[in-house]
This record gives sequence, C-alpha cells and structure tokens, in this order.
Amino acid sequence: MIDVRGLTKVFGLPDGRARRALDTGADRASAVRAAGGVLAVNDVSFSVEPGELFVIMGLSGSGKSTVIRMINRLVEPTAGTVSYDGVDVGGMSAEQLRELRNKRVSMVFQHFALFPHRTVRENAAYGLKTRGMSKRERLDRADVALEQVGLADRGDAYPSEFSGGMRQRVGLARALATDPDVLIMDEPFSALDPLIRRAMQEQLLQLQQELGKTILFVTHDLNEAMRIGDRIMVMKDGEVIQLGTGPDIIGNPANDYVQDFVSDVDRTRGLTAGSVMQSPWFTATADEEPASVLARMRKARGDGVYVIETDGTILGVATGEQLTLAIRDGASHVRDCVVDDYTAVSDETPIAEFCHLTGGHVVPLAVVDSDKHLIGVVPRAHVLEAIATATEEVPEHA
Ligand SMILES: Nc1ncnc2c1ncn2[C@@H]1O[C@H](COP(=O)(O)OP(=O)(O)O)[C@@H](O)[C@H]1O
Ligand SMILES: [Mg+2]
Repeated sequence: MIDVRGLTKVFGLPDGRARRALDTGADRASAVRAAGGVLAVNDVSFSVEPGELFVIMGLSGSGKSTVIRMINRLVEPTAGTVSYDGVDVGGMSAEQLRELRNKRVSMVFQHFALFPHRTVRENAAYGLKTRGMSKRERLDRADVALEQVGLADRGDAYPSEFSGGMRQRVGLARALATDPDVLIMDEPFSALDPLIRRAMQEQLLQLQQELGKTILFVTHDLNEAMRIGDRIMVMKDGEVIQLGTGPDIIGNPANDYVQDFVSDVDRTRGLTAGSVMQSPWFTATADEEPASVLARMRKARGDGVYVIETDGTILGVATGEQLTLAIRDGASHVRDCVVDDYTAVSDETPIAEFCHLTGGHVVPLAVVDSDKHLIGVVPRAHVLEAIATATEEVPEHA
C-alpha cells in the first residue's frame, strides 16, 4: 500500500548542498552536520501492507514525524521515494497530491485544532468541506464517524464540554469521516492519561477490525507499540534500527538500544504459558468427518483447528484448505488431512521463551501437559496484552 525506499531528509541546507553532503561517502550524519544541516531521516525503507497497523516507535527527535510527513509530501524528501498503491508520490501533480491528502490519506495529531465555536458534528465534518457535498450529506457522514468513535448523540455538544480523550475521538472522527484508505496518526494518544489512553487503543484496534483501514501509527511508547502494532519499526537518530512484530523484537532485540527499550520485559519472567493460556475454544477429534469440522470452523471464524486423538493428545492441525481438499477427495476422517503446523509448549514455559513463536501458525500456540494432552491455547493477542500489562509501570523512555 505504501512503499518507502531510501527516504532521507536534511533540514537547514539548500537541496544541492544537502545532496553533496550526503554523497561524500563518509558518515552521512557528520557530513551533513559539518555543512551546517540536520540529517533528520537517513535512508529509511519499509512498506506497509493494506489493512496493516504499522507502528513507528522511537525517542523524541528520532525522525518519526519527518518520515510520515514525507509520505504525503507535507515535507519534501531530500532523497528517496514514496509510492502509494504503486504510484510515485514524488511524481504526482498538484491536483493528484490534493486528492491524496483530501481523500485517501487522513492525519491525526497529538494536538490538533478543534474549532471552539462550532459543534462537535461540524468539527467532525470539517475534512469534507472540499468534497462538493451538500451540508446535509457532510453532517450525516460526520454523524456516522462520531458513532464509530463512540460519540453517537454527542454531535451537538461544543468542544469545550469535552475531555482530552473525547477531543481526540473527535479528531479521529474527522479523519474517518473522509473515509480514507490510510490513517496516519502522529502520537495521537500521547497527551492522554493512561486509563483513557488504554481505552483509545482498544477502540482503535476495534475500529481497525471493523473498517480494515491501513494505519500508520507513531509513538514513543513501547507498551503502546506492543499493544496495537502488527509490526513495529524502531527508529533512532533518523535511522531504522529494527523492524518486526512485537514478539520478534522482544525475542530478538537487534542491538543494545532496542534491548534497553525492551529490558523491562524481564518483568515478564514470572509469566508462563500456563498463566496466560485459555481453554481451547474449539477442537476436532480425529474420527470426525471433514465437512462437519469445516462447518464448525467457519462458524468460529477460524482458519485452522487442533485435531485431538481419542487419548487426548494432539494429532496435528487441520487447516481450512486441507479440509476443503479432503472433502473434495471424499476423505471420511479428519485424521487423513492433518498437518504438523503448530507449536506446543509446557504450561511452565516463560513467555519470553515463546513469545516470538506466536502468530506464525493458523492455530494459536498449544499448551500441553507431560502426557502431551492439549490443556490450553495462547492466542497472540493474549501474549502481547500480558507483556504490555507487565511492563506498564515502567516510566516512559521519552
Ligand atoms: N522543520 C525543521 N527544521 C529543522 N529541523 C527539524 C525540522 N523538523 C524536525 N527537525 C529536526 O529533525 C529531527 C527529527 O525530528 P522529528 O521528525 O520531529 O522527530 P520525532 O517525530 O521522532 O520526535 C530532530 O532533530 C528535529 O529537531
Ligand atoms: Mg514527532
């Protein structure tokens, strides 16, 4: 959806001099500094998949805001490219850029301005002004967006009646009202107190599931990144230090800097698979018919299921794909179509040892007892939640 290659920004120097400083071949940051500029973003590359919630995390000053501003060219890159759905943003005409900013990409900031003398509904409708819609239509769409963020029926209120959390919801509603493909959120919850912040994170995740938007989310808070990010890109001094899923990063910090960020996760040592597992909500027995298992699986909205032997041990996993093939081939038992695609741990395994293994299979992680009986499962979201909660009390790094 968004593809960023070699993105680089030098502030404080004319383009020509900035490029010459970058091209000296030596340490770019020193060369730029020697020439009197600031290398805010240095050779950053990543791509964001449609429907992904991609988090950029780093201390204040690490270049996060500059990166996202270059994505819709609020800041002009010194070098590198951004493409949006395969189209080079650098080559867009003024007209195309306007369309990109007005219709396809919406931004939400930490502090954004609400008009004090306009109602919440009018504030939420603000982004639709240039759409050539009737006022009625704009306000109707604002109402839908307000409902999406949990402010149904509050449209007639004025911003002064609202708390910080509610104002941020109005900001989110304003962004959603334009029905963008991509939401870019720059530390949108950073000014909120922890409880409200948690509630906003929950709501964002829920919205993400319902609406399937692609979201690029900036934060300086590891807990927040862990809780909401499908993938997290860690930045320092304008550069990408690590890019991966939360469990990847915790399980395998790229260097001391990231290690330092995640060191608080040591608090999770006491957390074991047994303490975060839940009972398997849905299993199949080896002798069941593939068609009935597939039907139950569809109902449970799963992509795979653990297949259990009569003695209670795990035989393997049946995926939707395998079951469909088995039905086509006339197989009468699920046991004929199981695959080995899962990970099992004991209930005493610490989270730190398995968190990077979650999310890699169609089924959640299995927890087994010493006789290899399935006693529980650990969905990925559970692990992330447990880690985030365990690290909660740690002071923020910024
Ligand atoms: N308009 C600007 N002019 C000069 N320097 C800037 C400008 N914007 C940002 N910077 C510098 O670029 C670096 C990265 O800033 P920024 O992208 O805002 O970081 P973050 O969002 O991670 O806090 C900082 O050193 C900042 O001082
Ligand atoms: Mg910033």
